[in-house]
Amino acid sequence: MDYRRLGRSGLKVSEFSLGAWVTFGKQVGVDDAINLLACAYDHGINFFDNAEGYESGNAEKVMGEAISRLGWSRDSYAISSKVFWGGSKPTQKGLSRKHVTDACHAALKRLQVDYLDAYFCHRPDIDTPIEETVWAMHNLIEQGKVLYWGTSQWSAQQITEAWGVARTQHLTPPSMEQPQYNLFVREKVEHEFLPLYDLIGLGTTIWSPLHSGVLTGKYNDGIPADSRMNLPGYEWLKAQLDTPEGRKQLAQVKKLTTLANEIGLPIHHLALLWCLANPHVSTVILGASNQSQLEDNLAALTHKSKITPEVLQRIDELLENKPAGLQRF
Ligand SMILES: NC(=O)c1ccc[n+]([C@@H]2O[C@H](COP(=O)([O-])OP(=O)(O)OC[C@H]3O[C@@H](n4cnc5c(N)ncnc54)[C@H](OP(=O)(O)O)[C@@H]3O)[C@@H](O)[C@H]2O)c1
Repeated sequence: MDYRRLGRSGLKVSEFSLGAWVTFGKQVGVDDAINLLACAYDHGINFFDNAEGYESGNAEKVMGEAISRLGWSRDSYAISSKVFWGGSKPTQKGLSRKHVTDACHAALKRLQVDYLDAYFCHRPDIDTPIEETVWAMHNLIEQGKVLYWGTSQWSAQQITEAWGVARTQHLTPPSMEQPQYNLFVREKVEHEFLPLYDLIGLGTTIWSPLHSGVLTGKYNDGIPADSRMNLPGYEWLKAQLDTPEGRKQLAQVKKLTTLANEIGLPIHHLALLWCLANPHVSTVILGASNQSQLEDNLAALTHKSKITPEVLQRIDELLENKPAGLQRF
């Protein structure tokens, strides 16, 4: 496992990390979580991603209990939470000083830790002044409850505004953003955020590198019974496959599979290594509903050298979705 700085911060995160969305607290209980986490940790993964909104806090409970039973030294790994979707009452959601503070305290309890290494604003909140959220994050950092704070799916303008507030008021600025990034979704990471990597030293912890599993090829011939798209509560995800865009993506997966096989890779390894090939990516957050998937995905790391500039160019030509008018990096 290689490690990258989380943007300009001094925190070194593993190139592949492990997230809890959909899996922990739904497909994965504490016993399986112990196996998944132990496998990840033994392979050098040191960043584990979670959120108050994942299975209404259950994902954090399962991860917290599993890590507690594993008995890892707290200084050997980093763990995150995200605030935004805490509950249905007006005070239980969004990025007000109240909810940011309450949600942090609740996440610390569920995860059974004294501090969060990374705390993300899961979405922008147009009902809260950015200044209020920046102050709330800064105060949690001053109290030792959070080490680094950041955003998820914010626009470059919103991130710049938060950074400007922090700079002018001598508060702690955001260090990282968690955007979706994969072969099909490129705009934010490759275009919109470009000025921010230098300006504020933005790190990125990117999500859904396999586009929820579509980039494994498992949906090429229908929806497997034991797959994410078939889970109750995720009908909206399944519906996306049956749109013109979804059908186009499935056709592209088949073409990408041919390209991947030509260079001796399965499609999902190509997809994961393609994300890693972007130096603005600090860590690629893997999702896995069982240990064999995780082991399989980790095995991609032995083939990094197969992603050459020529292969990247062939992928760009095949997908025709490279953000216009810009070099990729
Ligand atoms: N900030 C945000 O808004 C946000 C949003 C989404 C995710 N995230 C974070 O990013 C993490 C990763 O996202 P993701 O789970 O969507 O990642 P992903 O890699 O796109 O999808 C992971 C899913 O694909 C399937 N899969 C993975 N490897 C496989 C393999 N080798 N063979 C067959 N199937 C395989 C599994 O689902 P099945 O086995 O169930 O089919 C697995 O749970 C999340 O856990 C979360 O921490 C953040």
